[in-house]
Amino acid sequence: MVRYLTGIQPSGALHIGNYFGALKPAVELQNQGEAFYFIADYHALTSLQDPASLREYVRGVALDFLACGLDPDRSCFFRQSDVPLVTELTWILSTVTPMSLLERSHSYKDKTARGIPSSHGLFAYPVLMAADILLYSADVVPVGKDQKQHLEITRDIAIKFNEAYGSTLKVPEPLIREEVATVVGLDGQKMSKSYDNTIEIFGPEKLIRKKVMSIVTDSTPVEAPKNLTNSTILQLYRLFAAPEQIASMEDAFRAGGTGYGEFKKQLFEVIWNAFAPMRARRAELEADLNYVDEVLRAGALRATDVAKKTLEKVRTAVGLA
Ligand code: ADP
Ligand code: TRP
Repeated sequence: MVRYLTGIQPSGALHIGNYFGALKPAVELQNQGEAFYFIADYHALTSLQDPASLREYVRGVALDFLACGLDPDRSCFFRQSDVPLVTELTWILSTVTPMSLLERSHSYKDKTARGIPSSHGLFAYPVLMAADILLYSADVVPVGKDQKQHLEITRDIAIKFNEAYGSTLKVPEPLIREEVATVVGLDGQKMSKSYDNTIEIFGPEKLIRKKVMSIVTDSTPVEAPKNLTNSTILQLYRLFAAPEQIASMEDAFRAGGTGYGEFKKQLFEVIWNAFAPMRARRAELEADLNYVDEVLRAGALRATDVAKKTLEKVRTAVGLA
């Protein structure tokens, strides 16, 4: 059976870009193989130095995934730091990782350019990510386009290791979600928590309404026809509404006579309703946090079993065992 593995950083409340780009595809993949999904809290430390927030985000991501359909009976769902063996593999891999490989990393350059303090952890981020993937002998790693280079680095590290010590690590295949369109944010750029333009999946009603109402539009008067191209409202509406609702909003754009405020109200309704069942499920889970902790504990046990086997092979290969 194909083993899919992916990680998500707990660096804030998940937004609808994360939903379409990561959560929904991860949930769908559960039917096609064996899924290993984890909350990358060691990685989060490279950009978040606030223990209370880190704890809150980890719990939030766990709740979000379970509410959106991650099935812990089928998938191994765990917190990265519950399997600390990954840090040992990181060290061993770092000794076969050429500096030049990390020096080429776009994500390191982007993050430092955005003001994240440069640290050894931030620089070595791709090695920890390689260890995540190689420790569990993942066959396929589904990720967004932004992670493509990290997957190339992972493959390079695995190949380097195997060349140095004999065939030990499985070289994974990336599954880049090219077909998932980038979800736009309130200001029309890519929705991202770094741009402060997000709509959270599970925010309180008042906040979500306020955010939708704050979507940036042009200044076309109410009575005039509206431009359909690049309309943030329409782009988001198309993700949630039924085909006839979409056609009807597009007609109303062309006809004129309806203000953007009205369109935003319709958009809010479809977003709010789309997540209603998941919101209900999330509320149930939130009232039973012991269950959530139990899921993560069981996931960690299962992941540890797999991790131990790989690490045993790696230690033997390099001469530590
Ligand atoms: P952010 O940009 O908010 O920091 P992350 O980089 O943590 O989000 O992304 C986590 C996952 O969600 C990645 O798989 C990424 O590809 C996906 N993702 C993030 N933003 C979007 C978006 N606007 N549209 C589609 N997918 C997205
Ligand atoms: N770097 C990934 C991101 O920011 C998260 C991640 C950490 C990951 N380890 C991973 C993704 C292993 C896939 C496989 O989105």
